[in-house]
Amino acid sequence: MSIQSLYHSQIKNSSSLIQQFPMNSLQLNPTPLTARIPLISSYFQNKNRGGGTIRCAAATAKARTYNITLLPGDGIGPEVVSVAKDVLDAAGSLNGITFNFEEMPVGGNALDLTGVPLPDETLSNAKKSDAVLLGAIGGYKWDNNEKHLKPETGLLQLRAGLGVFANLRPATVFPQLVDSSTLKKDVAEGVDLMVVRELTGGIYFGKPRGFDQDENGDEIGFNTEVYAGYEIDRIAHVAFETARKRRGKLCSVDKANVLEASMLWRKRVTKIASDYPDVELSHMYVDNAAMQLIRDPKQFDTIVTNNIFGDILSDEASMITGSIGMLPSASLGELGPGLFEPIHGSAPDIAGQDKANPLATVLSAAMLLRYGLGEEDAAKMIENAVLETLNKGFRTGDIFSSGMKLVGCEEMGEQVLRSIDSQKPAAVAR
Ligand SMILES: NC(=O)c1ccc[n+]([C@@H]2O[C@H](COP(=O)([O-])OP(=O)(O)OC[C@H]3O[C@@H](n4cnc5c(N)ncnc54)[C@H](O)[C@@H]3O)[C@@H](O)[C@H]2O)c1
Repeated sequence: MSIQSLYHSQIKNSSSLIQQFPMNSLQLNPTPLTARIPLISSYFQNKNRGGGTIRCAAATAKARTYNITLLPGDGIGPEVVSVAKDVLDAAGSLNGITFNFEEMPVGGNALDLTGVPLPDETLSNAKKSDAVLLGAIGGYKWDNNEKHLKPETGLLQLRAGLGVFANLRPATVFPQLVDSSTLKKDVAEGVDLMVVRELTGGIYFGKPRGFDQDENGDEIGFNTEVYAGYEIDRIAHVAFETARKRRGKLCSVDKANVLEASMLWRKRVTKIASDYPDVELSHMYVDNAAMQLIRDPKQFDTIVTNNIFGDILSDEASMITGSIGMLPSASLGELGPGLFEPIHGSAPDIAGQDKANPLATVLSAAMLLRYGLGEEDAAKMIENAVLETLNKGFRTGDIFSSGMKLVGCEEMGEQVLRSIDSQKPAAVAR
């Protein structure tokens, strides 16, 4: 029996899961790939895909079909992915887009089904698709597993298997939620920045690494910060392309006053800037960047940085917004589909209670459309619907404040769908 059949038979046998994934919403027989769309960077289109024409074709063609791998995962993952799937369908249908969705196990549920956190079938299905939407993985049940049998290992394997080296994390302070920020209102208001983090290189992967003894016999632990030129070039291209689609400002963050890897980083990013005369490039040391993000975050549009600095700065930036349930992310590679996921985890404390905020996953679906498929109109439609839903005062518990209307995950999804529907006339007229 295939993993997928196993997964679906388990869904059939679980009433709570049936509720989350109605069987008639599952596509068990995907149609062939019909509309493979290149990733964000025209650099990669030209370099690896024989020219940048496919994307234009997708943007102008009347009807497009995409295969999307859905990885609901654990905890609140299935609840929020179910909402995002409906939202994709709704925005797609108003923009001439059809989606073939396939749900596959990953993380804890994959461990329970197959004994591994990332089954081969899940990875091969994800690789064949046009984009991958993930909920979240993890939970108390698997916390004490050995490292290779932890749900989190499945996520790392998925990222590596898809070769996604560029992690895009927007930090946007929604005007309606500005009071959720721990920063003063006048500092937080209007923040809209994007951190582009290198995801597969640098000190987290560099060799040599390990434990040893120094000349005095004391124990030492060591790691290596190393970047090859091509790794810097490709993340820089993604960052310039991203900045170009935003407000045209790119800040490259490094520690070039101390680290050789950062000196090379700065040299290569500066060289690539000549390909993007429309983007204003600046450089900043990471210690200063950490301060500036708190002092005056509005000065930033797009930030590009290495793996470890990006890990820290993207968490710092996201906390400016004050609401983990609102923050999406995209991870992109040179070839193959991108991986789109909320930044939050599986929230086992509220799983199955209809309390999760689905908007981070809904906004991840918008990123999937924009950065994964080049479907800007549909992406905007979703983002506008989220704004309208917030404007109407609907709030899940994590972003609730007095005077607002408290709703659950499902109702929040319904309200977003209504807002998408209300954009119908404009879309049809186009
Ligand atoms: N990418 C991922 O899948 C990912 C990321 C982080 C953590 N995890 C895993 O998730 C599990 C729980 O981790 P954690 O508790 O540290 O982080 P978490 O993000 O799951 O939860 C932190 C807090 O935020 C709340 N929260 C998170 N998302 C929310 C949402 N959409 N709506 C409302 N409230 C939300 C939770 O209820 C909790 O109180 C762990 O097993 C961890 O390994 C997975």
